Amino acid sequence: SVGGKPKIQRTIALIRPDAYNQRRGSIMDKITEAGFKVALSKEIQLSKDQAEDFYKEHKEQPYYEELTNSMSKGPLLALALAREDAVTGWREAIGPTEIDKAKEEAPNSLRAQFSIEGVGINQIHGSDSVEKAEEELEYFFPSQKTVALIKPDAYQTK
Ligand code: TYD
Ligand code: MG
Repeated sequence: SVGGKPKIQRTIALIRPDAYNQRRGSIMDKITEAGFKVALSKEIQLSKDQAEDFYKEHKEQPYYEELTNSMSKGPLLALALAREDAVTGWREAIGPTEIDKAKEEAPNSLRAQFSIEGVGINQIHGSDSVEKAEEELEYFFPSQKTVALIKPDAYQTK
């Protein structure tokens, strides 16, 4: 950033169930090496319905079934990552959507390095814009504000 404190941004990273089960240690090391701080983390098991809802824009796509199965087959790790330019920085770190392309064009990317044999879906998610990051942060780490809407009495100050 120009003349001042760097602007720290947050983004959502998801380590899908297979990689979370098999490779979590080395993935966390790479995240730290790339300069990201883990601001929040949560292990979460999505139901098939929740995975389908999270990826509803992809409903008609040929990979939708494998994608939503892969997302709901066990616990995954949701991370709120903080860094300067976290959103685009994290997208760069994970690399291209398709595993083959990632391996060819960005062999050092996380999606290239942490693919799972026999699984056609990449193992790492990253929010694709600042707006989407806000939305996904709220989805995985609902804020106090949301709680206050549900239980206003708990937040009265007088
Ligand atoms: P998308 O949001 O287009 O990609 P990205 O995760 O890079 O933002 O697609 C969501 C997921 O769907 C993607 O991470 C993996 C799966 N997918 C495929 O397996 N093949 C594809 O060709 C596309 C477009 C997506
Ligand atoms: Mg996307």
